[in-house]
Amino acid sequence: MTAASAPGKIILFGEHAVVSGVSALGGAIDLRARVRLEDTPGKTSIEARDLTLQGFRLDLITGQIVSADAMRATRYVSSVLKEYGARDITVKVDSDLPLAAGLGSSAAIVVATLAALNEHMDLGLSRIDVASQAYKIEKAVQQGLGSPMDTALATYGGYLQVSRDISPLDLPQLDMAVGSTKQPHDTRCEVERVQGLLAQHPDIVGPIFQAIGAISSKAVALLRDMRLEELGELMNVNHGLLEAVGVGTKELSELVYAARAGEALGAKITGAGGGGCMIALPSSEGSTRLIAALKQAGGRAFLVKTGCEGVRVVRDR
Ligand code: MEV
Repeated sequence: MTAASAPGKIILFGEHAVVSGVSALGGAIDLRARVRLEDTPGKTSIEARDLTLQGFRLDLITGQIVSADAMRATRYVSSVLKEYGARDITVKVDSDLPLAAGLGSSAAIVVATLAALNEHMDLGLSRIDVASQAYKIEKAVQQGLGSPMDTALATYGGYLQVSRDISPLDLPQLDMAVGSTKQPHDTRCEVERVQGLLAQHPDIVGPIFQAIGAISSKAVALLRDMRLEELGELMNVNHGLLEAVGVGTKELSELVYAARAGEALGAKITGAGGGGCMIALPSSEGSTRLIAALKQAGGRAFLVKTGCEGVRVVRDR
């Protein structure tokens, strides 16, 4: 048996702009996807549980599945298995991360599966290989544009600054409230829409992206020095710029304004927008009130820690 787990992520600053090579700042969170591989001669299958979906099973030989939603998770696992010709194993997946919510669940599943398979089949992949192969596989499944942010955070953990390059950053952990609209979103569709807007109005959207990049860069020093009020202000500015490129929704706005009224230091969309999640930075005393305000506004709300550990592998020989 080989097991691996990998974290989800939040993007603190810079989503969408990062797709055009502008600097973004993300942190791995303390919610994880877990994968177990077992040798099952003659049978290759994927079982997934607790993905905030109903349980399901997919047999790769018969192609039998129960639940259409399940396809989303199993597509990522089966793509990893196919890439490396893995057979005669059962993959069991479970995850704390809601799917299609902008918290990096698909990247965490791909990275955990790949890292477990690497150990199980002695593929000889380094951590850098895991990050780059996982990015390739996730992108192929999503058939779209996208940055390596999610797969890099699932692999390395901690905080990363991503632009054309990926740089790990040594920054303190933060408590962050996450508010989910409970509406699934399609990252590819949102990225295509924003990139289309950039192509149509480069003179307008280009400077918006540059401003987002400046926020991400400035935020690094603020986070390092724990200047949280200023960090919160920059979250509010970044949110306004994301609204400007059209990825806000009524439900996301309601959660953002509820968080600000609930005394958050700042609040913004996290991830692609168009549904999914927002984040809010609690004041030192105010996380209980903040979570209550988000729930009252109709969201699912929980606290996460940022800057958490990357992929972890355990082999039971
Ligand atoms: C999605 O979590 C973040 C986006 O910037 C897309 C990406 O970076 O791949 C919208």
